[in-house]
Amino acid sequence: MKKILFATSEAVPFIKTGGLADVAGTLPKYFNKEKYDVRVMLPKYMCIKEEWRNKLQYITHFYMDLNWRTEYVGILQYVHEGITFYFIDNEYYFSGWAPYGDIFGDVEKFAFFSKAVLSALPNIGFRPDIIHCHDWQTGLVPVYLDHFRYSSEYYRGIKTIMTIHNLKFQGTWDTGRIQDITGLPSYYFTSDKLEAYRDANYLKGGIVYADWVTTVSSSYAEEIKTPFYGERLDGLMNARSNCLSGIVNGIDYDDFDPAKDPHIAQNYSVESFRNEKVKNKLALQAELGLVQDPDKMMIGIVSRLTDQKGFDLIAYVMDELCQDEIQLVVLGTGEDRYENMFRHFAWKYQGNVSANIYYSEAMSHKVYAGCDAFLMPSLFEPCGLSQLMSLRYGTVPIVRETGGLKDTVEPYNEFENTGTGFSFSNYNAHEMLATIRYAERVYYNKRSDWNLIVERGMKKDFSWNNSAKQYEELYDRL
Ligand code: ADP
Ligand code: GLC
Repeated sequence: MKKILFATSEAVPFIKTGGLADVAGTLPKYFNKEKYDVRVMLPKYMCIKEEWRNKLQYITHFYMDLNWRTEYVGILQYVHEGITFYFIDNEYYFSGWAPYGDIFGDVEKFAFFSKAVLSALPNIGFRPDIIHCHDWQTGLVPVYLDHFRYSSEYYRGIKTIMTIHNLKFQGTWDTGRIQDITGLPSYYFTSDKLEAYRDANYLKGGIVYADWVTTVSSSYAEEIKTPFYGERLDGLMNARSNCLSGIVNGIDYDDFDPAKDPHIAQNYSVESFRNEKVKNKLALQAELGLVQDPDKMMIGIVSRLTDQKGFDLIAYVMDELCQDEIQLVVLGTGEDRYENMFRHFAWKYQGNVSANIYYSEAMSHKVYAGCDAFLMPSLFEPCGLSQLMSLRYGTVPIVRETGGLKDTVEPYNEFENTGTGFSFSNYNAHEMLATIRYAERVYYNKRSDWNLIVERGMKKDFSWNNSAKQYEELYDRL
């Protein structure tokens, strides 16, 4: 039996700000239980909903040195759907309103967490063969592990994997301060280790010290070796390219199942979507105060409202797009300018544009089910889960050909009648608009072809089964 520990800063159902939580919380369920014991460790944030926090069981606690400080480390546990989750407790670090605050505080918080992950192991009777780290928040785990090995036999032989969900976020801060926070010797703060462009860089530390590095799609694994996508670490990505691979994400096919989804007005399947899916559109139009029209093409967006997701393109042609025979439904939170932009257009095009500036799992399911198309014109996209959810719900993705979007959405070919969505290549607002309008024409003029696109999308398998197998192979290889 191979023992694997996920170290992560978020995981569903406990705490989520983005796709990382979906991955860390659901992927562990899909490993072969006879051969892999996969557990998850994350912070016990105050902002975890009380209904979950109350269920966690105290296991033990100890005190840990963090340079000149001595910190309390509590360990709690909860078994959810067969997976053991461990929670690291410290009210000083984890009491904020959200998992992340300002970077100044976050670098200290996650230095504490990363060291606590390793220090907790002897106390929980679970010595993993592999620690699988996710994003910069756990980048120091492989670094501390290297340090721990010198003084303790216990840690020798434990391997690490660093998975990059988003290279943009690296966790960087002034070297002197990070040295003080972490207590790591100055040996680690050189440009072949933690240091990058004069700052200390957590993700770089993880990438340098991990035994293997993965990212969440093959295309992104290639892209990050180039300056455009490399976020100033493209040199390092090239240097580590013999230990770098891409494994595309999946989604939880039980949670996201239009045939069983309790959140949506009308369940449907690949056999029945032609008659049934539209009932979800009508219900959504009624709920959001849009013009009730079963024939109007409805385009959905469920997203963090940030530059990464291509909202500057949308902003640029929004007025033009709204002249078309479409409805637009947005669900998301993020940068003020994008929140306000959608509020403005919802006011200007009342009845056809709906801005839902909040976070809601239930509403997201209604949008995935109710819309005809889903727009995701990302500037970069390590994988992207929303387009997978759309495919599953028969909602045709319109995407830019980058990262995981390129790997999971096959562009429609009208001559051969193939493809599961629409895509464009250049980061250009009018190229996007032309692609949306192409989709509109197929929707309005060639409905039977449109339905075949829907059908092909719904038949694709982006459940975790495939990806979990690839992680299993990687674990075996290490
Ligand atoms: P990222 O992790 O970069 O934000 P992904 O596409 O990988 O992008 O994952 C985003 C996840 O967050 C999806 O599960 C999506 O449905 C969900 N999501 C984003 N915004 C909201 C929102 N406002 N309400 C509900 N779910 C949301
Ligand atoms: C990041 C990426 C997103 C990916 C998710 C889960 O948030 O932005 O593309 O799907 O991580 O891996």
